[in-house]
Amino acid sequence: MQIPQQGLSKEEILATLQTFKGRDMDWKAGKVWCYVYNPGEDPAEVTREAYFSFITENGLDPSVFPSMLKLETDVVRAVITLLRGDSNAVGHLTTGGTESIMLAVKTARDKARIEHPEIKEPEMVLPKTAHAAFHKAAHYLSVKPVLVDIDPATFKVRTEDMEKAITENTILLVASAPSYSQGVIDPIADIGRVALKHNLLFHVDGCVGGIHLSFMRKLGYDLPDFDFTVPGVTSISTDLHKYGYAAKGCSAIMYRSKDIRKYQIFACTDTTAYTLINPTVLSTKSGGPMAGAWAILNFWGEEGYKRIIKEVQEATKKLIDGINSIDGLQVLGKPAMCMFSFKSDVINVYQLGDEMNKRGWYIQGQFSTPLTPRNLHISVNHGTIHNVEALLKDLRECVEIVKQSTPLDSEAIRALVGAALQSPDPEAAFGQLAASAGLSGTNLPTEMAFINEVLDALPDELCNVFLVNFFNDLYV
Ligand SMILES: Cc1ncc(COP(=O)(O)O)c(C=O)c1O
Repeated sequence: MQIPQQGLSKEEILATLQTFKGRDMDWKAGKVWCYVYNPGEDPAEVTREAYFSFITENGLDPSVFPSMLKLETDVVRAVITLLRGDSNAVGHLTTGGTESIMLAVKTARDKARIEHPEIKEPEMVLPKTAHAAFHKAAHYLSVKPVLVDIDPATFKVRTEDMEKAITENTILLVASAPSYSQGVIDPIADIGRVALKHNLLFHVDGCVGGIHLSFMRKLGYDLPDFDFTVPGVTSISTDLHKYGYAAKGCSAIMYRSKDIRKYQIFACTDTTAYTLINPTVLSTKSGGPMAGAWAILNFWGEEGYKRIIKEVQEATKKLIDGINSIDGLQVLGKPAMCMFSFKSDVINVYQLGDEMNKRGWYIQGQFSTPLTPRNLHISVNHGTIHNVEALLKDLRECVEIVKQSTPLDSEAIRALVGAALQSPDPEAAFGQLAASAGLSGTNLPTEMAFINEVLDALPDELCNVFLVNFFNDLYV
């Protein structure tokens, strides 16, 4: 695009923008089982209007916009209360789980810089199931991620393995409630004890679970404690824009006390411009996401959330039972809430994903690791629950189609990858392999099975290079 000489009309602009969505997957029909958390039309409208009514207000300066301070402190307090923090607990709103996690890591790093200047190469101990946002934080903030394997039967980290990974450079322990991949909760209370014993900060990633699990607890579901009631937990991230059903761009990062939170805040007066005080990564910060979150919390209230979450849990149970009853599919572990994954020992799940895709469904492929098989992931949300039976029917049919079709030759693909690895110019060889897999230039791939096979066969580091190159070409 180039900026047009003469501006277009509102009608032309909005109509053109709508056409851009033409190839998007149909989340409104409830066929996308990740990425979107749809509260339904009425709550979405309230959220949208609230969002638009604050789109221009700027959280950069609460002295000019006290409304921003009010919105942020209201939403944060509501989430802290849900997570059973006391009046000492504090927090901020960020743009999403990744920013909340990055801030938790920065806070730990900067606290250690002051309190433990002898630590020159800080480390954080992460279960292998921790979200990639921690790796990104490690990469941006020069904190070394020390990865801990999980129990391959439960997909939870073992507390003793976390403790063994602690060194004199450790500044932070991390666990998930729940992890994204298999939806299970790490042993938070036990890790909390370890954190206290070693006098370490302990972050619980409740990005997906903070709100949903808290309401499940209120509904009487049998769940382990994972929130501020657990001694040793020092910070929690919880996304409003996931299972809070708020508009995108809103998450909370919360700390047990101000003594810890202070290391998150950045101030700068060393320039010729205005005094800058930023508690989060962004400086200019639209009020839209905060107002959207404030609106949905108040629109649904406790009773609304409980009703929705009960329905989602009932649908999840039907889905899990239904998938386990399909010959060849098996749900992994015992998911704590409404996110789970399933494997197959009979068919290639990536091919199953493609078959489902042809019918308009999106189910996310997850790669294998030494401790987890390749699998497909489902996050159930309120906007998808009416489709449980339809999804099961298509899964049953597609499993049969894949059983009858020619299986992808994983061995041959591994051999191709192996040959590329041996090549004198592996990057060029992988470029060619990527092109043959449909991953090149500015085209988006349509079938993922072959691509996933190639990526699954690659060592992690090369896979990352491969994906970076792909995106470097995709966005022109
Ligand atoms: C457990 C967990 N933590 C963190 C994140 C990152 O959140 P975001 O995509 O909002 O940055 C996700 C995203 O799915 C997640 O599942």
